[in-house]
Amino acid sequence: MRYLPKKWWHDAIIYQVYLRSFQDSNHDGIGDIQGIIQRVEYLKSLGINTIWISPHYDSPMDDNGYDVKDFFTVSPDYGTLEDFKQLIHVAHKNQMYVITDLVLNHTSDEHPWFQAAKDPNHPEHAYYKDFYIWHDPKQDKNGENTLPTQWVSWFGGPVWEYVEALNQYYLHIFSKKMPDLNWRNKNMKKALKAAIQFWIDLGVDGFRIDASNHLEKNWDFPEGKPGYEHFSSLPKHHEYLQELGRELFKPNDLLILGESGGAKRQEALQYAGKDSHEFNLLIHFEHCWADGDDTNKKTPGKWAKGTIDLAHIKQSFAYWIDIFKEEGFHTLFWHNHDQPRIVSHYGDDAKYHQRSAKMLAMSLYLLPGIPIVYYGEEIGMTNVDYEQLSDFRDVEVFTEYDNFINNGANHGEAMQALKDRARDNARTPMQWHDGPFAGFSKVTPWINVNGNKTTINVQQQQTDEHSILSLYKTLLKLRKEEDLAYGAVDFYNIEDQNTFNTLVSGKHHDYLMLCNFKDTPIKQPMDTLLDGAFTLYLHNMPTTPQGSSFEPYEARIYRKKSEK
Ligand code: GLC
Ligand code: CA
Repeated sequence: MRYLPKKWWHDAIIYQVYLRSFQDSNHDGIGDIQGIIQRVEYLKSLGINTIWISPHYDSPMDDNGYDVKDFFTVSPDYGTLEDFKQLIHVAHKNQMYVITDLVLNHTSDEHPWFQAAKDPNHPEHAYYKDFYIWHDPKQDKNGENTLPTQWVSWFGGPVWEYVEALNQYYLHIFSKKMPDLNWRNKNMKKALKAAIQFWIDLGVDGFRIDASNHLEKNWDFPEGKPGYEHFSSLPKHHEYLQELGRELFKPNDLLILGESGGAKRQEALQYAGKDSHEFNLLIHFEHCWADGDDTNKKTPGKWAKGTIDLAHIKQSFAYWIDIFKEEGFHTLFWHNHDQPRIVSHYGDDAKYHQRSAKMLAMSLYLLPGIPIVYYGEEIGMTNVDYEQLSDFRDVEVFTEYDNFINNGANHGEAMQALKDRARDNARTPMQWHDGPFAGFSKVTPWINVNGNKTTINVQQQQTDEHSILSLYKTLLKLRKEEDLAYGAVDFYNIEDQNTFNTLVSGKHHDYLMLCNFKDTPIKQPMDTLLDGAFTLYLHNMPTTPQGSSFEPYEARIYRKKSEK
């Protein structure tokens, strides 16, 4: 990696802001761009230098902005174009970069393109129809019209929605309010490129490419259920990404974070290797659902919670760090807005809340690569405390709840799956202080604040040098000082299901990180590990730990005595 010509983003420490939930500046219950501007000082003090904001475009908000209605305007929920320009200005003045989400796979069904496409009487119908993907009905054996295929949407339910005026179905691999775009249509591509250029001209420093591996579909529409192989990760999507890379991303020296699950080494390098023209960083999810339960048929797939396969998590990090060792940079993160809160997911958000949140940070943030901290993670925000289905907001929740009940789950089981795994867990308002609405807003927010704002909030942690927040600051500072983006790592006992033990090498020192990932005490082979060469540097216990016995979720970082 050191051989690559230096780019600004090689020093990036990214913070993901879920715009709707970060800070509401005008007190309408919705987070907004001015809210981010108000918190730039906070972000600076945390030690991050790049802000990634979730979609800010005009949208009916079926999927919180991933359903774009107008690529050229800011949603009135979030502010104005002037606010956006101001954000870029303020960020740049503070030596920070701004990258925005870019949704290329679909639009909202309320987008004017789709409005024209679905209406045979619209004057521009003929031009826009082919911006989307249509299919005639099939006939079943009784001659009745049926769905073109049995493909299943990523949000549950069929991918096809019928439009009577056309007697055709359109394809939507997410919600039915998000019709998929047809990337084989040149005019469609041209229109999207103009939108991308618009934000580049406004000064954004990069993009996070949403759902990037879904751009191409199998146009033979073969049967399959769920049929993912027919609408995800088809080779041709790379061509589309390369085209954007060549024409827009590279010439403007942008940081491109690409979202794509399921890639392996060769494809990963195609996306983000040193010779790639697609992305700079790849966001994959291999370590994100390492606690599934295949035997659960009532709330299956990602919704089924089992025991954590820690070996898998470590192997995944080792594998991905190795892929990009000579070829670029690994993307380091625990989760984003699509997975549960990490302290509730892989830690313990009750008895060992603070300790396990710190352990998770200590195990991750000294590893090589470019880190992404998810808003609220730095204070240990947890999954929701909701008791009613109506407390949830995510479009995915409601289809899936019905699926669970149809699979034989009772209400309690279905609710538990949501409380463990739903995306809303990671979308509650930022907990700034313990007052009304956690300081996020002065009015009832669009989604309820977690009741634990009284004990988990920024204000309290800012004045406590032993807080989770203080630890994040320490780790991110150390990352910078030791140039750990470029570091190297060895995993000890990678097969072991209890410990997360690594040796990382920084610019000045080597660090040994020893973590107990379990809620029970364990013993560590300290003599072998330390070999007299290391001293204790950082830990997550109330008093200085000693010896080889590690309490539940205990983590220690040792530093090599000799400087390089
Ligand atoms: C990505 C986003 C997710 C969104 C989906 C559809 O996976 O991260 O939040 O629902 O794409 O745009
Ligand atoms: Ca607002």
